[in-house]
Amino acid sequence: MTARYSRITGTGSYLPPRRVSNDDLVTELAERGVETSDDWIVERTGIRARHFAAPDVPASDLAVPAAQAALAAAGRTPDDIDLIIVATSTPDMVFPSTAAIVQHKLGIAGCPVFDVQAVCSGFVYALTVADAMIARGAASRALVIGAEVFSRILDFSDRTTCVLFGDGAGAVVLEASDTPGILATDLHADGKHVGILCVPGNVSGGQVLGDPLLKMDGQSVFKLAVSVLDKAARAVLTKAGKSEADIDWLIPHQANIRIMQSTARKLHLPLEKVVVTVHDHGNTSAASIPLALDHGVRSGQVKRGQTLLLEGVGGGFTWGAVLLVL
Ligand code: ACO
Repeated sequence: MTARYSRITGTGSYLPPRRVSNDDLVTELAERGVETSDDWIVERTGIRARHFAAPDVPASDLAVPAAQAALAAAGRTPDDIDLIIVATSTPDMVFPSTAAIVQHKLGIAGCPVFDVQAVCSGFVYALTVADAMIARGAASRALVIGAEVFSRILDFSDRTTCVLFGDGAGAVVLEASDTPGILATDLHADGKHVGILCVPGNVSGGQVLGDPLLKMDGQSVFKLAVSVLDKAARAVLTKAGKSEADIDWLIPHQANIRIMQSTARKLHLPLEKVVVTVHDHGNTSAASIPLALDHGVRSGQVKRGQTLLLEGVGGGFTWGAVLLVL
């Protein structure tokens, strides 16, 4: 029997129209008595702007146009899709999954759909699951989406977190193929770090119990991120029998330019080989990698046949990497 692989055949993304520059945010926060500056945000994070969805726009409304763009790029229609996975930490509802809502909004029914919750590593997790399902014959044409409305869970009185995040969605069509495609994947988690990045609140008895806004110990997250990302990157290279020199593009989770620079340095990659969108998108959590991938493809930088290393870290703590040929 010939091996069955999975391959990305189309990418798409969507950003809500409201772009909030650092200066816009500085002004808005000053009205609440919260002091920050463009200089501080740029120097510590590389972020210059982010997009915020309107208050009544759920994650599925960002996911659908991203998915439609990916389908168009792949030359497919929603009817061709037999699996939908949405990576999100800001779902439309407690249940059902945002993937079920996306399926309905795309006008299809019948195929399996579910969400993956691994915070900022969500897209890498979702791509790994879709790849495994395709390799096993459980699906042939999957939509893998990262979609977030992180603005909903930000505490705008906490300057250490509210300047970092944005909203958006990215998607890929992942299809069965005789040739890879996805070369190797590597996922990890360590639940002892739950407290350093979390939204601790919960819904119970019709009320929100606990704080429903994002809490982060930024320095601990930073240290953990820079200590694990290059290891996950090396793991997928080893599994695929490749070396750092084979990487055409590093497409990292877009949390902070300093984390990306650190990982690139450890992998001996020049920054010219790193797709960077954090300056324009902020940290869009599970959406950031597919947004950056689509940005790279549509700008003409990232080309078919090139070898891409996708990697991310997120709350949990979770982390992982995917090595693929586009
Ligand atoms: N504006 C101005 N000053 C600020 C701001 C702000 N927005 N935020 C913090 N400060 C101040 C602090 O109060 C502190 O002041 P002090 O020295 O008087 O006490 C000073 O700036 C330095 O604060 P640090 O926390 O030491 O700043 P640091 O250089 O560590 O940068 C940051 C903070 C950007 C959060 C960094 O730690 C970081 O990027 N961490 C990783 C975050 C991350 O990647 N999170 C996403 C993970 S993915 C996911 O799953 C969601």
